[in-house]
Amino acid sequence: MSVKTYIQDNKERFLNELFDLLRIPSVSADPKFKNDVFAAADFVKEQLEKAGADKVELCQTAGYPIVYGEKIIDPALPTVLVYGHYDVQPADPYELWDSPPFEPVIKTTDRHPEGAIFARGSADDKGQFYMHVKAFEAMMANNSLPCNVKFMIEGEEEVGSANLDIFVKANKEKLKADVVLVSDTHMISLQDPSVTVGLRGLAYMEVEVTGPNRDLHSGTYGGAVANPINILCQMIASLQDENNHITIPGFYDKVEEYSAAYRKALNEAPFDLEDYKKKLDVADVHGEAGYTTIERVGIRPTLDVNGIWGGYTGEGAKTVLPSKAYAKISMRLVPNQDFREISNLFEAHFKSIAPASVKVKVTPHHGGAPAVVSTDTPGYRAADLAIQEAFGKKAIPTREGGSIPICALFQQELGLDPILLGFGLDTDALHSPNEHYGVANYLMGIETIAFFFKHFKDQASA
Ligand code: BES
Ligand code: MN
Ligand code: MN
Repeated sequence: MSVKTYIQDNKERFLNELFDLLRIPSVSADPKFKNDVFAAADFVKEQLEKAGADKVELCQTAGYPIVYGEKIIDPALPTVLVYGHYDVQPADPYELWDSPPFEPVIKTTDRHPEGAIFARGSADDKGQFYMHVKAFEAMMANNSLPCNVKFMIEGEEEVGSANLDIFVKANKEKLKADVVLVSDTHMISLQDPSVTVGLRGLAYMEVEVTGPNRDLHSGTYGGAVANPINILCQMIASLQDENNHITIPGFYDKVEEYSAAYRKALNEAPFDLEDYKKKLDVADVHGEAGYTTIERVGIRPTLDVNGIWGGYTGEGAKTVLPSKAYAKISMRLVPNQDFREISNLFEAHFKSIAPASVKVKVTPHHGGAPAVVSTDTPGYRAADLAIQEAFGKKAIPTREGGSIPICALFQQELGLDPILLGFGLDTDALHSPNEHYGVANYLMGIETIAFFFKHFKDQASA
């Protein structure tokens, strides 16, 4: 029986199992969901066992466990290390979901005429890593697993993977492999399949601006004492100039600049700006002068306020000059920018632009390195061949704006370029209300992954 037939015959069960996993609200950021995150780890462990993996275990960490399992059919054969994450982002704001985030349902959309699974984590990353478990099951079931495989599915990706970092450094022998395979990114579309060859890094900061030592009557004091929210807004606004260039001194010093040829090739990927704007309901795009939208998210660093708060935000009006204002600010980084260095530059600059009328506190959160992978490796060639076999087209290499900090660690610690074979679409609403993942993407992904294993065996031995 072919893998394709096996997938067709077991399609309903493959979907139902994923639904069971999606019903577990494994939100790593919120301690309220602690038991659920552990429950998701147990679920993954059990499913890996059922699919035929050996030595399946929960590797305990200071945080949530890493699920490990393997199938070594012959030590002489190449080994694929599969990485994914079973934790998800918080589902807030709940009121913006059309159906409850942890009660998966299938609905059709413009981009998913055959239906998509709506649930938090459907695309990021449960629906995507689970394809690997099912591809493995299918290959085991028809006796066609061509290489060794190791699974490493973590529960803290959405909060920075700090414990995975320690785990990888301490378990290099256990994790020894010939390639890392990750499905946690996007593709352009099922018509234009792509493989991600670059991810941005991240530096995430929290700032607190304090004015007077207590909230004040905004009539009695307004105009005479610094309002920390007004000041914070001015400070944030000054972080970008009229060209949307970031003004932090030294910020661009190490930024990798690309040749005209590279930029041209990047812009040859199918991209419809009008459609992009229409889908987001924006009259225009916005970004750094001199770069296209593809370049702005793929190869340029950025700075964004993720949240800003302070003062009175309840019903009606309250006249108050608040004592404090806060913001969470993230910077997406590109090759050669070090997140610790950038965090330090941010902190020094942010403090230097604060007027004497306020006090400023800057706290860095997690960060991560960018990662760029070569297209000239057995892993990339295998991914391209797998895409060709499944979709009938060559894979388009793309640079994506999101971050998977652990990818750089795989390169550094294990010496392996991760292959980012993702099947989500950019409109799948990752981290947003109504996150969804195409049923066709899920099934095509399972098939493509099985093809990857076959081609990787040949490529790695070639
Ligand atoms: N899967 C995403 C990253 C991603 C999404 C890459 C889409 C490419 C396309 C991952 O789970 C994620 O959300 N990463 C975080 C960083 C992390 C340190 C919280 C991100 O990019 O914000
Ligand atoms: Mn993810
Ligand atoms: Mn995510």
